[in-house]
Amino acid sequence: MSSAEKRARHVAVIMDGNGRWAKRKGLPRALGHKNGVEAVRALVRGCGDLGLECLTLYAFSSENWKRPEEEINDLMGLMRRFIKSDLQEFIDNGVRLKIIGDYKALEPDIVALIDDALEKTAGGTHTVAVALNYGSQQEIVRAANKAAATGAITEESLAANLDTVDLPPLDLLIRTSGEVRLSNFLLWQCAYAEMHFTEVLWPDFTVDHLKAALDEFEGRERRYGGR
Ligand code: FPP
Repeated sequence: MSSAEKRARHVAVIMDGNGRWAKRKGLPRALGHKNGVEAVRALVRGCGDLGLECLTLYAFSSENWKRPEEEINDLMGLMRRFIKSDLQEFIDNGVRLKIIGDYKALEPDIVALIDDALEKTAGGTHTVAVALNYGSQQEIVRAANKAAATGAITEESLAANLDTVDLPPLDLLIRTSGEVRLSNFLLWQCAYAEMHFTEVLWPDFTVDHLKAALDEFEGRERRYGGR
């Protein structure tokens, strides 16, 4: 396999550790999330140069609604501000925004901001997919119901109804903060993805960490069940 064929096209990240980052510095949790957004911004800026076709980020899970209301409001506020402040940069840098998950259940003003951003970035050449109100089991159930409505459920018909239908196959999943679990993220899509778990807390995760994970990925032999 040539080195170009070994290069990752699609990387997904479980951005974990904002709370612990803040706690270690004696700061409020909200500042952990705020610095988490700075890490997102730096990565989005860097991913075009790395040749990635898609970077998928787990920003808010369907289970995150269990968090205290104040923290949910902080996260939604950050989301609002991020879209408002960074949309023009997305457009200028050829970034296509994509949302996976049931984002229509968010506050109407966020839904409107997202819909506007989706429309204005539709022509972008590489994709940043943000998982919002996303749960993989729920996504699979939705996809199975849609597939069943039009015929038999097969691997192809189910995959064709997942939120990720227009994204390249997932090559690499990264989770920060030392936790080693998938937390209901991209369960179907992870079937043959490589895994990279790092102790680095999300606000400290940089483009250099991503580059190191990609270098390691390129050295792996992927056999997809063959030998
Ligand atoms: C996990 O840290 C992180 C989250 C639940 C939210 C991730 C969100 C962001 C990085 C910011 C929003 C993103 C965008 C795209 C604007 P945690 O709070 O579970 O950390 P802990 O496990 O250390 O407590």
